[in-house]
Amino acid sequence: MPQDPGPATPHDAQEIIGAWAAACAQRSAAAQGSPMATSSSHPPLFTAASRRSDLVAAYPEVDGVCERLGFSGEMTLGDWCLSPDWALLELARAAKPPPPPAACDWSMVTIPELIQDIIVTHHLPLRRELGRLGVLIRSFCARHPEFAQIDLDGLASRFSAEVTIHIDHEEAVVFPLSIAIEAASRGQQEAIPASKDVTAAIRFMSLGHEDAAGTIRRLMGLLHVVPMRSADPDIAVISEGLNALHADMVIHAYKEESILLPAVVFADEQIAAGAHLRLRPISGSRAEGDSDLAVSG
Ligand SMILES: [Fe+2]
Ligand SMILES: [Fe+2]
Repeated sequence: MPQDPGPATPHDAQEIIGAWAAACAQRSAAAQGSPMATSSSHPPLFTAASRRSDLVAAYPEVDGVCERLGFSGEMTLGDWCLSPDWALLELARAAKPPPPPAACDWSMVTIPELIQDIIVTHHLPLRRELGRLGVLIRSFCARHPEFAQIDLDGLASRFSAEVTIHIDHEEAVVFPLSIAIEAASRGQQEAIPASKDVTAAIRFMSLGHEDAAGTIRRLMGLLHVVPMRSADPDIAVISEGLNALHADMVIHAYKEESILLPAVVFADEQIAAGAHLRLRPISGSRAEGDSDLAVSG
């Protein structure tokens, strides 16, 4: 299990993340010598910049909707229609939440392999679902001003922003640092004194996951109230999407906190042990039978 980061206020968290990001920036850039694929580099979905091919690749079930609407070719939705909000809503309604990831034995994979799985299986679908649910929630709130006081759209926007910052930071700092530490523990690059960074990574991830879990629970709580006062069928679509997203976040956080971070901590401990026991040649004369190596502190 991950280390308990102890209590922290939002102000503490901000300071931790800021200081840590600055300290890690240089070594993270070095670790990205062979660039890691990130989920932020994929084309945006459920925006005016979306293309049919990208939408259908991620959500095959929307192909029929595109065909019916006459949205085809490689043009973007914005090029196809000057005001595509209505088409985005139809596509967001037709798309289904991604299926749960297949079970896998993670005991034998390397840190880079696990990170690649997290990006492809969780970060990328999460970004897409935040876009899709955002379209549905904004449309619902615009059509139902009677629910303005519960600020469903405001809470959903905050959730999306918090989660996006979290996964952006993981891909920019935490993951490259994790890969660099594993490489150093294998002797594939120069060892780095990373213990403080690893502790900060644990705190960053734990705080981000707690915040995201709290916000999505509040969102789901609001959606339990709204159906009693609204017959809008989009509430069922939004609820289905949020439930699936919440279930995936549990698995996603488990992989990061209970598999990835302990592996990084272990690699960091290996580096520390290696530094303590590193052997160095003895200079000068020596008596016969003496070892030609000595433990270096
Ligand atoms: Fe993540
Ligand atoms: Fe995370």
